[in-house]
Amino acid sequence: MERQQLNKLVLIGFMGTGKSTVSMLLSDKLGWKRVDGDEEIERIEGRRISDIFACDGEAAFRKIETKVLEALLSDEEPAVIATGGGAVLSEYNRELMLKESYVVALKASPDKIIARVLSDTARPLLQGDAAERVYVLLEQRKNAYDFAHFTVDTTMMTADEVVAAINENW
Ligand code: S3P
Repeated sequence: MERQQLNKLVLIGFMGTGKSTVSMLLSDKLGWKRVDGDEEIERIEGRRISDIFACDGEAAFRKIETKVLEALLSDEEPAVIATGGGAVLSEYNRELMLKESYVVALKASPDKIIARVLSDTARPLLQGDAAERVYVLLEQRKNAYDFAHFTVDTTMMTADEVVAAINENW
């Protein structure tokens, strides 16, 4: 599909790269609605992401994540969609995103990510030594976000600057 015909912009990136904040500002700028995959999962399931992981495990969470992604991408309304950091781990999800949306990856340095996620203790994959977990997961996901149409390194940027950079390339 031609990029001009797309009415979905998907933000991907590791936890703490700024997807939620950027999605809010970007949706305002484009005049599109904003949806957050994780919030949608919690709304549909009626429970927290951490409870889904604790009760049903990560594999069950990933299945729900794919179903929600499919639903969000097949909706007719133009939308900026912020995904959870692991939504890119499935090849099916990656292909779906590339087919149905303009995919923007947000990156940040490990230090910046750790500073951002340490204030939020709800992430199930960062329990225990969160900083150590970030390094391990970053290594495991080294190239996981490279498939995006466009990538922004947010380490030294304000959210407004990130939005401007995306908007110029959109
Ligand atoms: C995850 C990231 C989280 C959430 C879940 C799993 C991941 O979303 O989907 O805890 O695997 O990276 P954020 O990236 O919004 O924190």
